[in-house]
Amino acid sequence: MKFFVDTADTDEIRDLAATGLVDGVTTNPSLVAKSGRKFLDVVQEICTIVDGPVSAEVTATDHETMLKEGQKLAALAPNITVKVPLTPDGLKTCKSLTDAGTMVNVTLCFSAGQAILAAKAGATFVSPFVGRLDDISSDGMQLISDICQIYSMYDDFETEVLVASIRNPIHLTEAAKMGAGVATLPPSVLRQLYKHPLTDSGLAAFLADWEKTGQSILDS
Ligand code: G3P
Repeated sequence: MKFFVDTADTDEIRDLAATGLVDGVTTNPSLVAKSGRKFLDVVQEICTIVDGPVSAEVTATDHETMLKEGQKLAALAPNITVKVPLTPDGLKTCKSLTDAGTMVNVTLCFSAGQAILAAKAGATFVSPFVGRLDDISSDGMQLISDICQIYSMYDDFETEVLVASIRNPIHLTEAAKMGAGVATLPPSVLRQLYKHPLTDSGLAAFLADWEKTGQSILDS
């Protein structure tokens, strides 16, 4: 399973990339706005930090302008993945860009039917938003399960399921149990994954006992 981080904060990305656990980055217009930086500058910088796919989203809504924006973004770095919304124009743009060899992430997916359309349009990734479905009392993880099952039945569907809008470690572990190829994690959730109170208390007990021996590994 690949881990992407869902942020446009380059300090966070640098810090997390140093763990060796980060396979890519996803951004969206809201995350770029939060960074307070110029879109092209921030995306270009992210592409120098990670080698894997970096999603950068178009903001036009018509096919012709989306395609121009996508081509401009794709020219920034070889690891750019153009993110398009799951609309008729977005999927048309997805097809044009993937036919030209550009990676595309189809975002704002909220149904299995939409995910089938994204696969037929040749998307590299489809991004179902689990947290936002949970927010409206729909079952986000059921959608991941449905998409994984459908995609596994068709050899000609090469699109990877990129689980997005993850809000907690349970979303991540459930997605892993379903065989989703990628999860994009807010930095806080990636850090939460390390945590367990028994790890903390167990380590404290080991260190207290070790202290009593008066030994040091490096001085032995
Ligand atoms: O990047 C898309 C997605 O991960 C957004 O998450 O928390 O804004 O629903 P959220």
